[in-house]
Amino acid sequence: MGDLIVFYTWSGNTKKIARTIQGMTGGELLEILPVNPYPKRYGPCAEQAKGEIRSGFQPEIQEIPRDLSDYDRIFFGSPIWWGTMAPPLAAFLSRSDLSGKRIIPFCTHGGGGQGRFTDDIRESRPDGEIAGELVIFGNGGRSLEAMVRDWLDRVKG
Ligand SMILES: Cc1cc2nc3c(=O)[nH]c(=O)nc-3n(C[C@H](O)[C@H](O)[C@H](O)COP(=O)(O)O)c2cc1C
Repeated sequence: MGDLIVFYTWSGNTKKIARTIQGMTGGELLEILPVNPYPKRYGPCAEQAKGEIRSGFQPEIQEIPRDLSDYDRIFFGSPIWWGTMAPPLAAFLSRSDLSGKRIIPFCTHGGGGQGRFTDDIRESRPDGEIAGELVIFGNGGRSLEAMVRDWLDRVKG
């Protein structure tokens, strides 16, 4: 049984963390891509995201593997958008069968912290086992590797 590292990124920070986790676990990466990409400029992207998060809208995402039986641990990474996960990840959570999986959350934010991120994962998977989350400011800078390593030691079990 292996690790799947599921993530969405808009500006690259979550991808950097996901790759660091991959390097240390040997897991497989799964980048969630919305069918309609978000605007490249911050302002329009922030506006669109705000509306989607307020209304609970879940965008179409590109095809994801249906059979996750090869994986027992799902690392789950998001940029914090308006205090929670980005909508493409909410779509992944509600459209995947993650029963029996251990979910290991990680996120990156711009100074506001993780907000409701882990609580919202817990709410959508009340039956799941959810490990302690990794919360990174920006791209973690030079201490990223050390932070990921310490966290993996605590949560991988
Ligand atoms: C639409 C949008 C909403 C955001 N909302 C928040 C927020 O609520 N709190 C926060 O600390 N940072 C917020 N940020 C900043 C991002 O969480 C931060 O830049 C993160 O590192 C980006 O990760 P990424 O490069 O993987 O996309 C927001 C960024 C965007 C684009």
